[in-house]
Amino acid sequence: MNQNYFYVTTPIYYVNDKPHIGHAYTTILADVLARYYRSLNVPTFFLTGTDEHGQKVQKAADARRMDPQAHCDETVVRFQELWRKLGITNDKFIRTTDAAHKAVVQEVLQDLYDRGEIYKAEYTGWYCVGDERFFTEKDLVDGKCPECGREVTRIVESNYFFRMSKYQQWLIDYIETHPDFIQPSFRANETLGFLRKELSDLCISRPKSRLSWGIELPFDRDYVCYVWFDALLNYVSAVGYRRDQAMFEKWWPASYHLIGKDILTTHSVYWPTMLKAMNLPLPRTIFAHGWWLTGNTKMSKSLGNVVNPMEMVEKYGVDAFRYFLLAEMAPGQDASFTEEAFIARYNSDLANDLGNLLSRVLKMTLRHLQGVIPPAGPLQEEDRELLQTVANAVDAMEQALHAMKCDQGLAAVLNAVRAGNRYLEKTAPWTLAKRGDTERLQTVLHTAAEALRQIAILLLPVMPGKMTALGEALGFDPEEFAAQRIAELRQSGDFISGRVMRDTDGLFPRIQTEEKMQKSAAPVPAASPKTAPKTVLPGVADLITIDDFFKTQLRTAEILAAEKIDGADKLLKLKIRMGQEERQLVAGIARYYAPEAVIGKHIVVVANLKPAKIRGIESQGMLLAAKIGQELKLITVDGEIASGASVG
Ligand code: ME8
Ligand code: MG
Repeated sequence: MNQNYFYVTTPIYYVNDKPHIGHAYTTILADVLARYYRSLNVPTFFLTGTDEHGQKVQKAADARRMDPQAHCDETVVRFQELWRKLGITNDKFIRTTDAAHKAVVQEVLQDLYDRGEIYKAEYTGWYCVGDERFFTEKDLVDGKCPECGREVTRIVESNYFFRMSKYQQWLIDYIETHPDFIQPSFRANETLGFLRKELSDLCISRPKSRLSWGIELPFDRDYVCYVWFDALLNYVSAVGYRRDQAMFEKWWPASYHLIGKDILTTHSVYWPTMLKAMNLPLPRTIFAHGWWLTGNTKMSKSLGNVVNPMEMVEKYGVDAFRYFLLAEMAPGQDASFTEEAFIARYNSDLANDLGNLLSRVLKMTLRHLQGVIPPAGPLQEEDRELLQTVANAVDAMEQALHAMKCDQGLAAVLNAVRAGNRYLEKTAPWTLAKRGDTERLQTVLHTAAEALRQIAILLLPVMPGKMTALGEALGFDPEEFAAQRIAELRQSGDFISGRVMRDTDGLFPRIQTEEKMQKSAAPVPAASPKTAPKTVLPGVADLITIDDFFKTQLRTAEILAAEKIDGADKLLKLKIRMGQEERQLVAGIARYYAPEAVIGKHIVVVANLKPAKIRGIESQGMLLAAKIGQELKLITVDGEIASGASVG
């Protein structure tokens, strides 16, 4: 990208949400890009923030009997704290409730209204009171709400509309002639597919009688602005639009709007048409990345399978977490997050490959050269080869970042790390030392240390803390090293001779996996000759008869209600229907399922289990669930069958 500035944004997250690794990913990706461009001496502006208006926030605030603003002020901190923990270097944090943002939104609305881009019209449609959403006739399923299946009511409401439809053809042409505009390219095709159907005008108002938590329309005090129209404008209001012309000209158009694929249409259709109506240029690239999945399922709050980034950071450290997210996901594709995969990658890339390279250079230099990095003698073929592999990684990383293929850039750097380890095996400095070949020993250790220096600088944007520590191990002052720039990596010169290495062993201590720990701790089960069955099935220790099995009465049941139990964060209290009978269960599934996510599910229950009191609450049976590692899934019934049916 031949650019003299870099302006990158993340979505502004709903202030209500608890941040999970999905939010963390987009923000870390933006942070790595921002750090990288700064490291290339490109003036950079990095924006993130929160989306604070609309129905969901008002509802949450009402439920807490709080003023919505006070509710936002309290919840926004979760994001701000997480970003601090994750080392996020945003230049601005915008909140859509900031007075400055609100004023700009109102000016834009007024201007578009004055120029006839916004008009008032009567809206007729179907409204689901439960979901508080509008649907058109064709959205309905059997005349009912497509989301929840409840009755819908016909409503006629006056609203304000943005003339989005008139830009339909212009947008199609723009996307077709600007291949960089929507990335990856299959997302551009998705947008074009959407634009092949008739585009309607966009309803940009909500009557205050229904929703008051929003920015008031300057030309009609009975309405507030639709939350997306307000939110998208953050990308320009944050950089001085209508306030600071010089600042705005410096940063707009944005280089990248990073988003998840869930919000493609709002960014690739609403936003460009809004900008066109405002006579502003479009962002260079809207980049939609894929989903982080838990195993194979989408991570979502209602499924209760979200990975909490704070927990991961506390357990494994912020740098390893940042590294994993970037190395594991090919931007654009979905990726799966499991703790097992995290540990495997950590142990192989960081503990083994990078950690080993440092510890070998460190140990040899301390043992044979009092820790002082020596100057190099004449270089041999293998020395030049290693330095060339590192130089190639510098190029690969740059190209990968410009093409938004950070995973490939990191793979190239790790390739250089492995080349460093092979180099040491080949040159065998320990043998050189034994042989007393000091000159060659010095050249080898110098070359390996120089490779490490460049690798650490290349990885600084991804692992700022650990790579600064690596710099310290190479004898740099931490502040000096943290300020090293990739832009200077191609300068030739000797930057390391004479530096005194410091023993910082354990940069990436190996993570013992649970499986291994259990294997070494668990006693070997003794064979029991009395009950040992004759027939042996692989993976099964003990066989039972069919009569044994039918001692357990399994029945289907429908979950009617679910709630959390105060003071027991693992437990849910469930009300179930089993045929004619209603029962109460206490189930240890609260860490995997939100109460609202299990209601209506048809599950399998052990019906003849002796009732037991759990935390003082009676549990009349036990539900079945599948569990492996950190994952748990309820056993449910495939298709319709009355509750109370026997299972077996
Ligand atoms: O949509 N995998 O906010 P939001 C990867 N306020 N990324 C994920 C993810 C997952 N499982 N889950 C969430 C909104 N994300 C609006 C945006 S912008 C003008 C307004 C990330 O809190 C991803 O970046 O629902 C996604 O687009 C964003 O969080 C949605 O955040
Ligand atoms: Mg969302």
